[in-house]
Amino acid sequence: MIVTTSQLFKVAYGKFAIGAYNINNAEQALGLFSGNVEADAPFIVQISKGARKYAGVPMLEGILRAAEKQYPQAIFAVHLDHGDEKTCYDCIDSGFYSSVMIDASHEPFEKNVEITKRIVERAYAKGLSVEAELGRLGGVEEHVAVDEKHANLTDPQEAVAFVKQSGCDSLAVAIGTSHGAYKFKGHQSLAFDRVETIQKLLPGFPLVMHGSSSVPQEEVQRINAAGGKLDPSARGVDVDELLRAAKLGVTKINIDTDGRLVWTRVHREYFRDYPAEFDFRKPGEVFVKEYAKFIVHKSQKLGAAGQLPVVRKALGV
Ligand code: G3H
Ligand code: 13P
Ligand code: ZN
Repeated sequence: MIVTTSQLFKVAYGKFAIGAYNINNAEQALGLFSGNVEADAPFIVQISKGARKYAGVPMLEGILRAAEKQYPQAIFAVHLDHGDEKTCYDCIDSGFYSSVMIDASHEPFEKNVEITKRIVERAYAKGLSVEAELGRLGGVEEHVAVDEKHANLTDPQEAVAFVKQSGCDSLAVAIGTSHGAYKFKGHQSLAFDRVETIQKLLPGFPLVMHGSSSVPQEEVQRINAAGGKLDPSARGVDVDELLRAAKLGVTKINIDTDGRLVWTRVHREYFRDYPAEFDFRKPGEVFVKEYAKFIVHKSQKLGAAGQLPVVRKALGV
């Protein structure tokens, strides 16, 4: 059942976080839906511009409509990840999305406000909510390379002014993470003092953490043992810090890289062990099971596992 992102945020705020997982194909959908159903967890399906280009817009909608039918117990929202203005309008007008992210964080503050405000107006008219971003994450976001050295954490006072002026419903904040597999060099921890200050100034307002994959070391080692060449210094967010962040108002936690690592490990190991095989459904089946297992584990770490009865009660369904 597709619900709005705000409905999920209302239930989760300050108690647990909703996992927001990127999707590009049917195998990811199968693992994502079966894992969340097994964990009894609400979730957000995220679609990036890259995914829309890869699979095609009707195909992605078709996959998700089919998943909704195949997993009638699932409760989820559909969200545009890292949208530009045009893609936000397309999604708002499509009638399929629950919420959109307008990513104008590379713009100066005033321009970011101005663009976000325009999206908010259009989205509200159609009942969608809007995530905006303030601050710069390290790493690489679609077409925008942000040098780690210049990555700066979200300024709490600016966050207050931004939310007030733009009217956005949730805010992606830079609190020490970056996209991809190489987030931390040496010390690996979120900027909790920064989140705490932002929450004090914006009580009850849902914050979003991008770049939240945990990049499990075992996964990196298995990929490399099966012929991969990932830099062994790859480090992600400590999975045990996720719930602490959730209690401080981080209500949506974005995870994509970890799913890619599961895919890479499964396929590398499979074709290493069965070099004569060419039926892609065999590793596909293993991937779906392994991805579902990963989702169950992540839902537990987010505190989202077992929350579906609470969500159903709040929604009256
Ligand atoms: O933050 C970006 C997400 O990981 C989506 O990645 O743009 O390659 O689909 P993508
Ligand atoms: P990761 O690269 O850490 O998975 O982050 C994904 C993300 O932020 C999608 O918006
Ligand atoms: Zn992101």
